[in-house]
Amino acid sequence: MTEFSPRYLKDYQVPDYKISTVDLTIELDDNKTIVTNVMNVIKSGEHQRALVLDGEHMQLKSVLINQTQIDSSQYQLSDSTLSITNLPEQFTLTITTEINPVANTALEGLYKSADVYCTQCEAEGFRRITYFLDRPDVMAVYTTKIIADKTSFPFLLANGNKVEQGNLANNLHYVTWHDPFPKPCYLFALVAGNFDLLSDTFTTTSGREVKLELFVDKGNLSRGEHAMVSLKKSMLWDEQQFNLEYDLDIYMIVAVDFFNMGAMENKGLNVFNSKFVLADDLSATDDDFFNVEAVIAHEYFHNWTGNRVTCRDWFQLSLKEGLTVFRDQQFSADMHSSTVTRIKNVKIVRAQQFAEDAGPMAHPIRPEKVMEMNNFYTLTVYEKGSEVIRMMHTILGDDAFKAGIELYFDRHDGQAVTCDDFVAAMSDASKTDLSQFKLWYSQSGTPELIVSDDYNSATNTYQLTIEQSYPQTHDKQEKQNLHIPINFELITNDNEPNQGGLLHSKEKTQTWTFDNVCSKPLPALLGNFSAPVKLNYHYNDQDLNTLMVDASDEFNRWDAGQKLFAGYIKQLVNNPELDLPLQIASALEQVLACNADNAFKAEQLILPSFDEMAAAIVEVNPGSLVRAITVLKGFIAEQLQVQFLQTYQSLCTSEFAKDGQAIGNRALKNVCLDYLSLLDGANALVLNQFTDANNMTDQLAAIKVAALNDLACFEDVMTEFATQWQGNTLVMDKWFTINALHNNENVVQRITGLLEHPEFSIDNPNRARALIGAFAFYNSEYFHNKDASGYEFLFEQLAKLNTINPQVASRLITPLIQFKSFDNNHQQLMKGQLQKLTKLESLSRDLIEKLDAALK
Ligand code: ARG
Ligand code: ZN
Repeated sequence: MTEFSPRYLKDYQVPDYKISTVDLTIELDDNKTIVTNVMNVIKSGEHQRALVLDGEHMQLKSVLINQTQIDSSQYQLSDSTLSITNLPEQFTLTITTEINPVANTALEGLYKSADVYCTQCEAEGFRRITYFLDRPDVMAVYTTKIIADKTSFPFLLANGNKVEQGNLANNLHYVTWHDPFPKPCYLFALVAGNFDLLSDTFTTTSGREVKLELFVDKGNLSRGEHAMVSLKKSMLWDEQQFNLEYDLDIYMIVAVDFFNMGAMENKGLNVFNSKFVLADDLSATDDDFFNVEAVIAHEYFHNWTGNRVTCRDWFQLSLKEGLTVFRDQQFSADMHSSTVTRIKNVKIVRAQQFAEDAGPMAHPIRPEKVMEMNNFYTLTVYEKGSEVIRMMHTILGDDAFKAGIELYFDRHDGQAVTCDDFVAAMSDASKTDLSQFKLWYSQSGTPELIVSDDYNSATNTYQLTIEQSYPQTHDKQEKQNLHIPINFELITNDNEPNQGGLLHSKEKTQTWTFDNVCSKPLPALLGNFSAPVKLNYHYNDQDLNTLMVDASDEFNRWDAGQKLFAGYIKQLVNNPELDLPLQIASALEQVLACNADNAFKAEQLILPSFDEMAAAIVEVNPGSLVRAITVLKGFIAEQLQVQFLQTYQSLCTSEFAKDGQAIGNRALKNVCLDYLSLLDGANALVLNQFTDANNMTDQLAAIKVAALNDLACFEDVMTEFATQWQGNTLVMDKWFTINALHNNENVVQRITGLLEHPEFSIDNPNRARALIGAFAFYNSEYFHNKDASGYEFLFEQLAKLNTINPQVASRLITPLIQFKSFDNNHQQLMKGQLQKLTKLESLSRDLIEKLDAALK
């Protein structure tokens, strides 16, 4: 493997030069785009050090200092830098480069795909457009002039406000944009293409009218409406909750089909994966609608948490991402059921973030060492980062938290700052000591709470003892005790009100004593998942049944059911013949019968996922785990067949609605279908739902259970679905995914064949993830097949993606590097594929970093 050296947080130094303005002229061309970059550069302090600019994958055409061309005796060019020496205190630097957007399949920097030019600069893509100090603490005011063919590219967009436009010879035209807010280069954006435009306005509390513009592929206007509504809701919410108003006169969103991530918060010009913009009743599921709203909100909220106040360096990424995820989660919770929203968040943390913490890429939410920054847009930085912000919110309370946010903006608006600055604002505004709490930023791994208790009926006292325990993480980091907020409630069956509140666990072992407890209580802990930790307390089935019904925290009621299921799944892994108690079914019968809302009931009926269980069991045989889950599911299905069918039928309605209740009804109906699909009669039921469906949620649920149970109708419904939806990229992604989930021993052959399907293209990240990713992440049975054919398939795709798109490759390698969760046999097979990857020629920095970590 090639050597790449990591960078360390501890090595941070302020930049030697500042760049105050950037004037870009970009002449777009498929293979030879010319970028002229005129910068005002100022030396910071007195020194004679060279100006070392970052730059990759482009051709340097010329360098001018104060309008005079300099030759290569005055500068030095390497693969990744341009160094210029003997510089005055302040000067104009003009750099011209040539780039090739069509050849850019990595989708970083400026690229052209599907007739659209667009950019992705975060984290370090701007250095593929021009030579620059590509680091977030260098903030400049940008003016961007774009020149392109008028017919093919009627829309030329960049950050800020449009200041000029006009025609040029040869059918060319130009538009000039000016963004008055100084920003780091990762927030720069440019888009050129031919779109349909959805326009609207939003009037801010202070009465300014903001133009809202949403650009979508021709013919897709109606599919943009939900995104537009979501944007307006987000703008209003941020004013109401945090007094944060939008600051420019125009806010633009462009949807593109080729995008590495979900979306990007470029100042005034968000670029979105079309998956998180386009949605209509027929082609999008209820989850899609939810996700579009959440991602629109996330990017909008970045305008303050990320753009107005940005990161000093990339190690601080969670400063903006953890905080912005927290904000979008709160927004979603306000727009929908807060409990169900919280459950969705927690499932991701437990199934995927815990796995990351337990794997070779374990890192704190503020990493200390990075080789390829793109590898750190992780569940840890985002989701655990959000949990850390949430804990501060829990510890301080809503008012003090909001005062902290206000102080943070008072102090740091317009600056590039650190996570320490954020915590300092929180601490100062609330007058709360957060020094121990801050360890959450530097410590990796998932803490485990070991809980024991003791009740004394003579004195009516109850003692609760909590020990913090830290499993060794791959980075071998020494662990300290954290400040962990624990929501608790003592459930008693006497007539006294339950005691409850917040415990602050700060020491290795701590005991709390409660008086006046008149009967032995049952502790309900970590209400609303008050900390991202594992909980170890010996609840018996009876306890869990009690919690499912009596815990006042809805999240805990749900969680008790999950614990009950998880306990049996663990036992079934070792003993598939285990006699399951009817009690499980009766607990769920109660759930079905009670009058909670149906979205919540649906969550209560869903079993813990393979990933969540794999994160909770050591060295499991993947096949045994899949079968254990299936046995439990089959048992529940048989026991409650009548109830499931009844519920299912009662929820089959002919009209389509999209309000919360209708969404909850569909969720519950499709969970019932999922159970029923394991029983006799499944084929007819599923076929029926597929045929009758008047919305994507129902249609997709039908083909999914057909795939998961390899039902007789599977091939037919898949063919029909493909015929109905061919040409609709986002729906065809779903079709590719369902193929990858097929529970059949020939699935690897099937998906290998699909690599040649006319609508498949490995260059498109959504497609690659839909087929290859879905197989590796979610077809647990056949990905982990003991003949290693699943691993081999992933290896072959990664070998291709390594050169085409390293970021996508680096995401999709995840299931292979997390081999530690599985038994030795599978570990060896998985490592074998990783070894093969290390032998590839020109292995990307992205993969090298992960392979190094995994094989070390
Ligand atoms: N800042 C973007 C967001 O969270 C994500 C950008 C990801 N970029 C990357 N290179 N991984 O909305
Ligand atoms: Zn973000």
